[in-house]
Amino acid sequence: MKIGIVGAGAIGCYLGGRLCARGAQVVFLGRPRVKDELAAHGLNLVDGAGRGATLQVEPSQVQFVLEPSGLADCSVLLVCVKSAQTALMARDLAGAIASDALVISLQNGLGNADAIRRELPRHTVLGGIVGFNVVTGQAGAFRRATTGPLVIEAAPDARVSTLASALRDADMATEVVSDLRAKQWSKLVMNLNNAVSALTGAPTQQLIFDAAYRRIVRAVSVEALDLIKRAGHVPSKVGPLPVQWLPTMLRLPSSLLKWVARLQLKIDPTARSSMWEDLSRGRLTEVDYLNGEIVKLAESLGTTAPINQRIIGLVHDAERAGKGPPNLSADELWRAISG
Ligand SMILES: NC(=O)c1ccc[n+]([C@@H]2O[C@H](COP(=O)([O-])OP(=O)(O)OC[C@H]3O[C@@H](n4cnc5c(N)ncnc54)[C@H](OP(=O)(O)O)[C@@H]3O)[C@@H](O)[C@H]2O)c1
Repeated sequence: MKIGIVGAGAIGCYLGGRLCARGAQVVFLGRPRVKDELAAHGLNLVDGAGRGATLQVEPSQVQFVLEPSGLADCSVLLVCVKSAQTALMARDLAGAIASDALVISLQNGLGNADAIRRELPRHTVLGGIVGFNVVTGQAGAFRRATTGPLVIEAAPDARVSTLASALRDADMATEVVSDLRAKQWSKLVMNLNNAVSALTGAPTQQLIFDAAYRRIVRAVSVEALDLIKRAGHVPSKVGPLPVQWLPTMLRLPSSLLKWVARLQLKIDPTARSSMWEDLSRGRLTEVDYLNGEIVKLAESLGTTAPINQRIIGLVHDAERAGKGPPNLSADELWRAISG
């Protein structure tokens, strides 16, 4: 099974690199700057949060292409671009990839697999979830910074279980599930706080263990969970604890929370949302595909989601200003979102 990584960035390089290091046939599709970096340094893949080995992929082992036509002989394609790039990428894949290729979106948000299906109506397109964080370092280094599972939507296609086995062999706990949408709701709630990190610059640990940030995270999540419940969606667990427990957990004192949070996931001090990295690099963020889903949900219920709406406005202001993360203090952000 030859696996194409569609979008060689943080997730694509980490996942594809680990598969490659364990002997899978992998082709990376990405930008020239990444191609040059991997040609010079290969891939250095550190599992900073779990128990996986640190793996090195030599430059000679990396097969990297700049055009979708380079993925023509891949039987499985893992889509790892940011949500705003999905439709364009899928359009570019149409006509370039094998007609029977299996396409799996490993992106955040709710709508990426559908966006791919619209462009590739004759392909089997599945959704998935990457439940862990990857931070990009220098010279081909990619560091997994939290624990968390990989989730792939079940389908009557033998390649799904073959892929899941290959991912497990590469030290990534992988579940194949039939209730993907219910898990995507959970992941969405967790991802709403990527924007809090992007606006404040706070690493993930600080968002959870510092009370000033925690009240923001709680307010954003409570608003979302309330709407999700009113709409009749029931999030199912990604990791050991239900996301519905989050508001209660975030009320605990920091010392107790540290203990409880460890049951859900281990967080390396380097963990930070990729939305922060997007603002740092002057790129558009995924805020409309994350917090924007909560605002859309509120509208569908004839109401509003003012906290998530204000968060979106602040992120858009930062995107337009193009000066990187605005580095708001927790108090400044609290005042801005609490109206
Ligand atoms: N990073 C994480 O820790 C994490 C964790 C869980 C889930 N996710 C999700 O996984 C998805 C990918 O995130 P990421 O952080 O890995 O993104 P990323 O680092 O931006 O990686 C995507 C890569 O694809 C490249 N790309 C986009 N369009 C392309 C095209 N047409 N041709 C060639 N290359 C192209 C991008 O280049 P340019 O930047 O130059 O466009 C970028 O290098 C997102 O939905 C994200 O929410 C991320």
